[in-house]
Amino acid sequence: MLAGRRLLMIVSGSVAAYKALELARLARKDGAEVMAILTAGGARFVTKEALAAITGARVHDDLWAAEAEIGHIRLARWPDLVAVVPASADLIAKMAAGLTDDLATCVLLATRAPVLVAPAMNPAMWAHPATVANMAALRGRGVHVAGPEDGPMAEPESGPGRLMEPPRLLEAIDAALGGGPLAGKHLLVTSGPTHEPIDPVRYIANRSSGKQGHAIAAALAALGARVTLVSGPVAQPDPPGVTVVRVETAREMLAACETALPADAVICAAAVADWRTAREATQKMKKVPGAVPPPLELALNPDILATLAAAGPRRPRLVVGFAAETESVVDNAIAKRAKKGCDWIVANDVSGDVMGGAENAVHLVTEAGVEDWPRMAKEEVARRLAARIAEALS
Ligand code: C5P
Repeated sequence: MLAGRRLLMIVSGSVAAYKALELARLARKDGAEVMAILTAGGARFVTKEALAAITGARVHDDLWAAEAEIGHIRLARWPDLVAVVPASADLIAKMAAGLTDDLATCVLLATRAPVLVAPAMNPAMWAHPATVANMAALRGRGVHVAGPEDGPMAEPESGPGRLMEPPRLLEAIDAALGGGPLAGKHLLVTSGPTHEPIDPVRYIANRSSGKQGHAIAAALAALGARVTLVSGPVAQPDPPGVTVVRVETAREMLAACETALPADAVICAAAVADWRTAREATQKMKKVPGAVPPPLELALNPDILATLAAAGPRRPRLVVGFAAETESVVDNAIAKRAKKGCDWIVANDVSGDVMGGAENAVHLVTEAGVEDWPRMAKEEVARRLAARIAEALS
C-alpha cells in the first residue's frame, strides 16, 4: 500500500508510544520510507535508539541539533504524510494553537504534507471541552484523525482514548494518502433514530443510539471511501472525514439520501420510525381535566431502504439493510431481504442490551447464505462489514 511513500512519524508522550514502533515496522514492511521525530514526552516512553533501529534512519529529537543537520524546514518538506502517533493532549493543544516550542511543533507548522493525528490519552482528557475544541479546530483545518478507540486503558479505566491499533493506523495512513480499497467510491450510510413530531414538544422515536451506523461510516472512511452519513438525532460525535447530514424525520432522511445519490453502496443502519402522526399539531396539545386522552392517528412513513433498492438506474450497486429482531432473527432477516429488495441484511437480536450497548452479535444474510458472526464490539462489526463491502465493490 505504502510503497515508495515517505512517512514522517512524530512520537509524543503517551504510554501507547510503544505502538509507534510497531507502526514504523509495518509501514517499512509495506514499502514506506520512515523517519521519526521524538518529543521530550515521547522519549519518556520509547528510546531514540529503538526508534532509529526500527525506522532505519536517524531520529530527530532536538530543534537546534536538527537545525544544524537538516533544518526543520527541510524535514517538514520531506514527507508525503506526517503521522502524529501517538498524539498526546498536550501536542494536540499546541497544534490547535499553532505553538512552535520544539522540533515537532515547528515541523507541524511548517509542513505542507497532509497530517494525521492518532490521539491517545485518558478518557476524561479526551472528553474535556478543551480537547474537544482543539480536535474540532484540527479537523476544520483538514487534519486526518485516526481513533482513538474505546476500551481498557493502562490505568484501571475504560473508555475512548486508546491509541488505534497499528494495522488499522496503517490503513488510515493509506486512506489519508488517497489510497485504500474504497478510494474513489461514494458510500451512503443512514444512522440513528428518526423523530416524528406529535406537536411542537413531543415526538415518536425508538431506542437507537446511532453507535453502529456511525461506526460503519467511520470504518468505510478509514478504507478511503467518500462517505455521506445521513443521521437522525443522536449524541454520537461526527466520525472523522465523513460528511454528516442531520435530519429529524423519516421523510427528511429519505430526501437527504436521494440528494446524496449517486452512491456505490448504501448501508441503511438507521432505526427509522415506521409511523408518523397523521396530523402534527401546530400548538402544544393540552391535558383537559376529565377528558379522554386524544387519539393518536398514525400514517405510514416511506421505507428508505426499499425505496433506494428500487431506485432503478440510481440504485446503488450494493444495498445493505439491517434487521433488528427479538425472535426468529435469521428467518425474519431472510424474509426481509426479499421483501425490501436489498442485497444484504445484517440481522441482530435486540432482545438484550444491544440498543445503545457497546457490542453486537450479527448474522450477515446474502444471496450466498447466512454467516453467523461472533459477539464483538460495534466498531469491530463495522470494520468487518466495511472490509466485506470493499471486497464486494472491488
Ligand atoms: O422493516 P424494518 O424496520 O424491520 O427494516 C429495517 C431495515 O429497513 C433497516 O435497514 C432500516 O434502516 C430500514 N428502514 C428504512 N426505512 C423505514 C424502515 C426501515 O430504511 N421506514
